Order: sequence, then structure tokens, then C-alpha cells
Amino acid sequence: MINTIDRDNFHPAAPGERVTSLQQRLTSAFAATFGRAPDVIARAPGRVNLIGEHTDYNDGFVLPCAVDFQTLVAAARRTDNQVRVVAADQQFQTDEFDLAAPLVPDPVRTWPNYIRGVLVAMQAMGFEPGGADLAVAGNVPQGAGLSSSASLEVATAQALNSLFNLGIPASDLARIGQLAENDFVGCSCGIMDQMISVAGVSGHALLLDCRSLATTPVPMPAGASLLIINSHKQRGLVDSAYNERRQQCELAARSLEVDALRDATLDQLNAAAGAMDPTVFKRARHVITENDRTRRMASALGRADFGLISQLMSDSHVSMKNDFEITVPEIDILVNLVASVIGNAGGVRMTGGGFGGCVVALVPGSLEADVLQAVSSGYESATGLTETVYRCQPTAGAGLLPI
Ligand code: GLA
Repeated sequence: MINTIDRDNFHPAAPGERVTSLQQRLTSAFAATFGRAPDVIARAPGRVNLIGEHTDYNDGFVLPCAVDFQTLVAAARRTDNQVRVVAADQQFQTDEFDLAAPLVPDPVRTWPNYIRGVLVAMQAMGFEPGGADLAVAGNVPQGAGLSSSASLEVATAQALNSLFNLGIPASDLARIGQLAENDFVGCSCGIMDQMISVAGVSGHALLLDCRSLATTPVPMPAGASLLIINSHKQRGLVDSAYNERRQQCELAARSLEVDALRDATLDQLNAAAGAMDPTVFKRARHVITENDRTRRMASALGRADFGLISQLMSDSHVSMKNDFEITVPEIDILVNLVASVIGNAGGVRMTGGGFGGCVVALVPGSLEADVLQAVSSGYESATGLTETVYRCQPTAGAGLLPI
């Protein structure tokens, strides 16, 4: 579970408390809008990625954990083709559409598009959900790079899967979310966020092979806290910069004549350097070295080898900063503040798509208070922004809640 740690005030939430109040908020919104109770409630978590950034859409490796910030979707069947939705976290805004008519994105609001996109993707993949009343509520911080949108997509797909007994396999639930994002929302994201939201394992990180979708759970080492620090740096132009990175990677793969950068070696890349645009070369170098670091990190984590964990997370951050160019000064400052305390006894790096968002740190329990102190006394004075720290435990992937 996640405890929110305020700068001056540390309030551990009681286990389960968060989900219970979230569920109450959700069922009240459902009852107030539709005048009845839901048939099912699905939950899907957000995630933090320990290492393996921008490797997923290169058919590579990632090592995320599901965290217990989550999105809940309550659903009840209808007898017609209408879908009606209420969003408890968006001032109870509603959306309504006919499943039999062609669905287009809402031109003004973004939140309905994740739900519409999931329905369109389900139909495109041959699944046939019917009309439904839906309510949505969640507590995944939005715009922080913790996959609030993937958790909404997966919770929606999971709720409809259960409501209509569609028998959708886990990996297809993830693909539905990714397709919604790629074809409907317009972000060319990979499969990491949706897969970990579906397949997370309590107490474990998951080494995910984004080509085969094979998952290997890796136990989190005892004695270390998993901290997520939100920089609150507003992320701008994220989708366009993200899509541009993806295009550069695909260009690099084509010039190296491989299916994806997962298949290229550093030697191959170095040999081709003269014929490549220098920016494209750097992007490819990040991906090739990051894939290697991710596999080594999975084994270092399993052995609780903190010296190597520290090195790999630090190298990953430097590679994201210099080669992939997706960090921002505020994030670099946070990483340096944490690193100055933990040295090689733990690891810290930016996590997620980049351009703001959060850093992730594996911190020995004995150094946690010093890390919080260093961040609280150094970050705001350097940036004018106030951070939020979440301590979390890796949790299980999507499922149904008892009603
Ligand atoms: C975003 C995307 C993921 C992944 C990460 C970067 O979270 O949704 O698919 O590419 O960025 O690792």
C-alpha cells in the first residue's frame, strides 16, 4: 500500500482504507447518476517503472511494479446499445454514446476518450461488449507519469470483460488499452503500462519481455523502501515529444536493418555511426544500453545487490538525460538530492515517459529519514516547487472487487 508522506507530516494510511473510501465514492456516484447499484466493480493499478525506459516499443525489456494507486470502474448492463459514463473525479461529468454508431474522440475533453477508445479497441479485436452504465473513480496521481490513463483503460476493459463474460485473456486486456491509446487517444505508447496494470504481482517487480509478453516476477529486496517522488513539474508537449522519440527509434532500427532495436548490439550501432544522424544514434544507444541494464537489474534485484542496483539506476538516468534527452532540471535536482544521501547503498532515477513527473528510489530503511530530509530542505529552495513523496509496496494487477 502507499502512504502519502507530506513534507511536515507523515500519515500512514491504514491498509485497505484507501480502497474502501474510493469504492464508497464510486458506488455513491453510480447510484446518484443511474439510480441503481452496479453489477461489477473492477480495479486496475497505476505503476512505477524501476528501469527499462522507452524500451517497450522497441520490443525490449522493462522492470515495473504495480502500485496501489488505482482506478475503479463500476458497471451495470443495459438492454440497449447505449453507454453512459459518470466520472466521479471530474466534477461528475458524464458522457453518453451509442455503441452501434461510429465513435469519434471527444474534441474538447480528454477523459472520455480513454473509455470510448477501449470500447472501439474491444470491437476492433473482435470482442462484443453491449450497452452499459459505468462510473469511474481513482486515486492515481494524474500527469505524474504513474500511468493513470493505463489504469483507467485496463479497469474499463476488465469491467466490461466481466459484465459480458467475454473471456478476454490477460494479454489482450493490455493490448486493448494500448490500442485505445495508440489509435484513439493519439499516443504511440508501448505495452508496459497496460501489461503491468493487468499482470502485477504483490511484493514483486515484473521483468517483462515486450516482444513475447513473457513475465518473470522478481521479489523486491527486504529492508529497502520503494519511494516515488513527484516533482510536480508540469509535463508539456509530452505526446509529441514521445511520438518523436519513437519515430527516431524506428528510423534507427531501419538503418541497422533489424526488426526492432531489441535486436541490435552496441557494436552494430557503433559500426553504423558514420552513416547515422547523431541524434538518432544517441536515441538508439540509450535503448540498446537500457535493455542490457534492465536484464542485469532484474538479476541484481533478485540478489539484493545494492551496489549494482545503484550503478544501473544511475547509468539509466544519465542515459535518459544525455542520450534520450527526456529529463528536465527539476528531475535531475531530485535525483541528485537522493543520490547524495544513499550513495551506492540504494538506487534512484527518473521513472516513466519523461519531461517531468516522478523519480523512483530504492532506499535502505535506515536512510529513508535522511532522504526525506535532504529532499525537503533542498528541492523547493532550488526549484520553487514542492515535491510529494509516496512510499509504496508493489501490488497485484487488475481484478474485481467484492460488491
Ligand atoms: C510511457 C508509455 C510506456 C513507455 C514509457 C517509457 O509510460 O506509456 O509505453 O514507453 O512511457 O518507458
